[in-house]
Amino acid sequence: MKKILASVALVGAVALAMTGCATDGGSGGGGGGGGDELITVGFAQTGSESGWRSANTESLKTALSEENGFKLVFNAADNKQEAQIAAVRSFINQGVDAIVIAPITVDGWDDVLKEAKDAGIPVILEDRTVSASDDLYASWVGLDFEKEGELAGQWAVENADGSNLVVLEGTTGSSAALDRATGWSKALEGSTIKTLDSQTGDFTRDGGKKVMEGFLQKYGSDINLLFAHNDDMGLGALDAIEAAGLVPGQDIKIVTIDAVHDGMQALADGKFSFIVECNPLLGEKVADLVKKVLAGESVDKRTIVEDQTFTQDQAKEALPTRPY
Ligand code: AHR
Repeated sequence: MKKILASVALVGAVALAMTGCATDGGSGGGGGGGGDELITVGFAQTGSESGWRSANTESLKTALSEENGFKLVFNAADNKQEAQIAAVRSFINQGVDAIVIAPITVDGWDDVLKEAKDAGIPVILEDRTVSASDDLYASWVGLDFEKEGELAGQWAVENADGSNLVVLEGTTGSSAALDRATGWSKALEGSTIKTLDSQTGDFTRDGGKKVMEGFLQKYGSDINLLFAHNDDMGLGALDAIEAAGLVPGQDIKIVTIDAVHDGMQALADGKFSFIVECNPLLGEKVADLVKKVLAGESVDKRTIVEDQTFTQDQAKEALPTRPY
């Protein structure tokens, strides 16, 4: 596709190449070239913190492939918002045709989104939301995180009322963590579940394990319910619980969100008690939005992808055909 701001892009690309802004995905970073027929898309991913994130990255890489008419410039920001914003600025300077962002945090996006808009490059958000005005991006596709938290909380109230709860929160300031916490609290209103503690494990297994070790040292066997904002933190917590001589699923009921393969295996094995799905397969929807926006077609500002929930029996049934 014809590049807007080609000369500005060239200067910017050279400057960024000199500062060593990282890209991968086999496309290099050079000016978003790749044949007039390909649509160049810069994708600013959060990082690689979880199994969900790997499945999401894979889904976007597949959908935004050359075979499908795209040239992808991929960047994973290691969960650091400054790095993610720098990647978006690099895409703007390279003069890509469109930018896709999975925003790490809700706040802090106004300036760079305005820069993309001023450069005439449409932005599609996927996965998490931002607090910036929706005039600054073309569309968002993702999940209803508040509903996910609420469904998890409803299960807890119905199956573990009166428990002593600890919570492993996702990345601080992310819409996934904020909205899941809101939904969970809403569901727990009027229940007798007592929250002993709540801390971030940053959506990682290591984080979940370390924070759970701290909870166990402090509260010991008083804990009998864990809500982890994602499977990976729940899986990390399993190690800590077993190392403390407790039996996950029996001494401590564990409710998580995502339903990635390892989480579903833990649920089928009786170690987790309930999972609310968070569907990471957003690639095709993103690719479709990019094409429509660039063609000047009108698109919905928000698209919510439906999630389901899994009990232990449902996990056993679903596991053999689960795609991620
Ligand atoms: O934003 C979605 C969340 O991010 C997933 O639930 C979690 O696993 C990931 O890191």
